[in-house]
Formats: sequence, structure tokens, C-alpha cells
Amino acid sequence: MCGIVGYTGANPVKPRLIEGLKRLEYRGYDSAGVAMQQDGGLTLVHRVGKVAELEEALSSFDDSSTCGIGHTRWATHGAPSEANAHPHSSCQGDIAIVHNGIIENFAELREELLSRGHVFTSQTDTEVVAHLIEEAYDGREGDACKGDLMKALRHAVGRIVGAYGIAAVCAQEPGRIVVTRKDSPIVLAYGEEGAYVASDIIAVIEASRDVAVLEDGQFADMTPEGISYFDAAGNAIEPPIMHVDWDIDVAEKGGYPDFMLKEIHEQPRVVRDTLAGRLSGGSLVIDELGLSLEELNLIDRVYVIACGTSYHAGLIAKHLIEMWARIPTEVEVASEFRYRNPIVTPSTLVVAVSQSGETADTLAAIRDARIKGAKVFGITNVVGSPVARESDGVIYTKANKEIAVASTKSFLGQVVSLTLLAMLLAQSKGKLTLGQIRLLYSELADTAEQIEEILSDTTAVEEAARACKDAASALFIGRGVGSAICYEGALKLKEISYLHAEAYAAGEMKHGPIALLDEGFPVIVVATQSPVYDKVISNIQESKARGAMVVAIATEGDQEIAKHADHVIYIPKVRDAFSPITASVPLQLFAREIAVLRGCDVDQPRNLAKSVTVE
Ligand code: M6R
Repeated sequence: MCGIVGYTGANPVKPRLIEGLKRLEYRGYDSAGVAMQQDGGLTLVHRVGKVAELEEALSSFDDSSTCGIGHTRWATHGAPSEANAHPHSSCQGDIAIVHNGIIENFAELREELLSRGHVFTSQTDTEVVAHLIEEAYDGREGDACKGDLMKALRHAVGRIVGAYGIAAVCAQEPGRIVVTRKDSPIVLAYGEEGAYVASDIIAVIEASRDVAVLEDGQFADMTPEGISYFDAAGNAIEPPIMHVDWDIDVAEKGGYPDFMLKEIHEQPRVVRDTLAGRLSGGSLVIDELGLSLEELNLIDRVYVIACGTSYHAGLIAKHLIEMWARIPTEVEVASEFRYRNPIVTPSTLVVAVSQSGETADTLAAIRDARIKGAKVFGITNVVGSPVARESDGVIYTKANKEIAVASTKSFLGQVVSLTLLAMLLAQSKGKLTLGQIRLLYSELADTAEQIEEILSDTTAVEEAARACKDAASALFIGRGVGSAICYEGALKLKEISYLHAEAYAAGEMKHGPIALLDEGFPVIVVATQSPVYDKVISNIQESKARGAMVVAIATEGDQEIAKHADHVIYIPKVRDAFSPITASVPLQLFAREIAVLRGCDVDQPRNLAKSVTVE
């Protein structure tokens, strides 16, 4: 949820840290700070707010430092403040660290360190690590670690329990940065200008496309001359180098006013890339799952576990898996699944959906399911992410890096991937013929062009957004797979525009939510062609009868609906099973448009972070 960046080399560190922090800002953005080696000491600068505030504060500093670390924070322990912003330093101020993750035993360690005379300046869990390193470095723990930053870091992480990615610098060791991790990503790259570390590839790929992904328990020792890697026992290792083939322009807005709009417009490409190569010899192929059709045929229960938007993709998957493969499917938020005792057997398939591949609750649920003997498939956007590594098989969504906190293109990639999985399960069970699979695949591929059509004229969405922008609350209703689309539409609206929104299966309206409706209350209805279309029309009429303002997402050519709804957003005709792929797009645009009209920060909504690596 936070971002780490570090550089050591021959060039000024300040602009490199700022550039890296800006690229990482999407992960967390309530405060930021840097520690730079300078004039034999460390210069620490912190600011509350966006990285731009820090950049402004640093403008009066010269460019003499060539080694330092930086951090952008999403507060967990301690409110956003300059005191709680990273880097944190030791009592003497000669050691500074940045940390992502949670130190679970920080309270005991803090007490212990206080009793030995350490002075704390923040409320964070992180600060204990700086003091533990200090004790080891200055010899209070004996000579073994004295004067050696790497050994002192090893000693410190031996004392902490929790999740961490850590980078540390020391005034007495010019040009050196030491790094380690557990359950929190760290990547390193060595380029022409020197050595880089970050918590996300996006902050280092300008330096080099070849990056090393640090594994749990490993350490990296960075100097301007190179990076050395060590395993937990201290043996030198050569980590595999991953070549990053996506382009740096994912980190640029490319002419769009915000990343969210850019990412919405990338969705036709995501559909095409996610489908590419999946139909071979007339049948579906997803080799990365590592299970044969015969093994898939043995699956008798599916759980889809995920959080937030990814959970909504799971709701859509349930409809498709049960409809086509006839396998009972439950969708559960990961934070619930992990704490109850779900019925899991070796013939259970758990599908873990996570854009970031790092969500703490989803990871914990995966671990739990595997212990119980289930097969786990991950659906993620991030190659080599913990979800990918800890699953038995994985489907990558091919959305490429998503920067806006509100998921759009990765949601669509998840829905397309889950649709393929549902088709594969049906193929393995003999519930769909190869002819049917080919037809579905071809219609699925057509959705890319249909999204392009939706994106080519957004006038109706904009008009509807203008009509709803001043509302205090909105209701999203739909039936069947349409209700799942509504949950996602409502989440998009509330998270970026702060307009309260709720979603209901339309049949539930009369059981409570209808009490909310009065003159002008916005009701957004997914009313595309489906077997329950007539029922949805009745729900629209019930809403109109209470004075609601109805915005309908409907199928092109449907003249009837215009008689009932105040605003109609037409989308191309697709089969009901694929309506989530097309109908989600106007809802994404609707949410964004309202957020823009309300003056909200579309890409970085308040209180949120892109990846939720804490419980
Ligand atoms: O990375 P994940 O897909 O596991 O993240 C889960 C949720 O935090 C995420 O989908 C969140 O709800 C979205 N950013 C909302 O747009």
C-alpha cells in the first residue's frame, strides 16, 4: 500500500527519488519522505500530502547526494503526519529505513527498546526496526554486526514478526543501501546510472527492463558498482532476472486527463490480449492452469475468493460457471473465507482473483484453501505476484499496469478470464460442445469492438452524469448477471465521487430500498436484453412511480425503454452472458464523469490505496 524507492550511483539521487515516488504514488499518497546521504550524514525530509509537496520542499536542497531512499505512505499505524512519514531514523540519526508492511510485534519491541533508552519520534510500527538496526550496528548486540549495515539489518529482521519490504541506509556507509523482504514485494535493477530498488517494477523500468524480484528472506546489498544478493543463510545467490516487456507509457497519461479514463479506453486491447491464443485446434487451452481436462472434470465445487472489484468479477463468474459447467459455485470475500471453516475437499477448486496479486486477505485465503487440500487457481494482473506464485495455476489478465486506484481495465480482464475458465470447466464436463465453445469464443472476441463502439460516443453517459451529479445517494439495480454489474457500478461511483451508492438485485427493491426513493432520486438500471428484461421494466416502472430519476443501460434498438427511463445509455447487443463486459463500461464512465463534475481526484480517491497488503 506504500511505495519504496532507492538509488545509489554516480548521479544525483534527489530527482530519481522524486520520479520514482511519483510513479509509486498510486499505491499510497497521504505522506512521503526521503533520506539522502549528504556531507557525511543523512538528510531526512518528510511532507504530508502528495509527492508534489515533498518535491517542493526538496527544491531548496542541492543535488550533491547520490545515494538515498524514499517512501510514499498509506497510514496504518499512526495518522498521516510528518512525524509518521518514512524514512524513520535511529536515535543518533545516522541510520534511516523505509518499510512496507506491518510489524506485528512492534508494541513489545517498542517497550523493550524504550526500556533501553531509545527515544521514539513517531507512532509507527516501522520505527522499531531503525532502533533495532542501530543497536546491532553500534555493537550493543556484540561485535558480530558492529559496523556492518547488512549484518545489522539481518539481526533486526530476526527480531520482527510480520510482513516487510525494507531498505536501509547509514551515514557511515556512503553509497550503500541494504534491502530485504518478507511478504511484501521488492524489485531491484542495475542500469547504466547505478543501482535501483523499489517496491514496484514501475519505479525502476526506466533504468532497466531487466529486474530481479527479491524472494522472501533474501537480502540485497546495493552499491554504485552493482548489486549482490544473499539468501536467508547469508550465501551469495544469483536471482533470476525478469525481463519486463510492457512499455513505460503505462506510467504516463498519454494525453488523457487522468489514468482512469486512459485505462477505460485500453479495455478493447485487454479483451483481445486476454483472449489471444486461447482457442487452439477448435478447443479452449489454458495451459498455465496445469490441470488436464480429466482433472478439471473431477471438480465438484468452486469457490471464488476476492475483495472489492475482484469480488464483483467473481459474482459474474458464479453465473457463468453454474450456467455452463453446472458446478455449484460460491463467491466469498476473502476476509470472510479465511476466518470461517468453509467446506473444502480435494475436489474443490478455489479461484483467487486479485488484480495486484498482493491483497493480504486473498493471499491468506489461498494459503488456507491449500492447507485444506483444494486446488487453487489465481487470476491476477501481475506476473510473479504472490497470488501467482502461491496458486497451483494462474491466468494472467493482460491488463498491464493499472495506475488509477479504481479498477477498470483489470476488472474487465478478470471477467474475460473468468468467462474463459467457465467455458473450460464446461468443456471438461462435456456440458458445452466444441461447436458451442467456438461460437462463444467468437462472440466474446467481438466484445472488444463493441467496447470501442461504446467509447466512441459518450454523450448519453455525460448527460446522465450531469443529471445525477448533485444527488446525495444513488441506487443501482439489475437482475441476474445484471445485478453483479450493478454492485461494481455502485462501488465505482462511491469510491471516486464520494456519492453514496448502493446496489441491489432489482427483485429486492420492494423489500426495503424502495423506501429511499423520492423525487429525483437516481436509480441506475441495467436493463439489457435478457430473459428477465420484462421484470426489470417492472422495476423501472415502480421506481418512476415514486418519482425516481431512472438512468437505464439498454440494448441498442430497444425503443420501449425510452418510454420509461429518463436517460437511456444504449450499448451494442450481446448475449446476456457477455453483458457484464459491455455494460460495465458505461458505468465506469458514468462514475468517472460524476467524480470529475464533483471536483474529485479521480485517480487517487481519499483514504484508498491501490493494493491492500494489510488485513
Ligand atoms: O488487487 P485486488 O484485486 O486484490 O484488490 C482488491 C480490491 O482492493 C480492489 O478491487 C478495489 O476494490 C478496487 N481498487 C476498486 O476499484
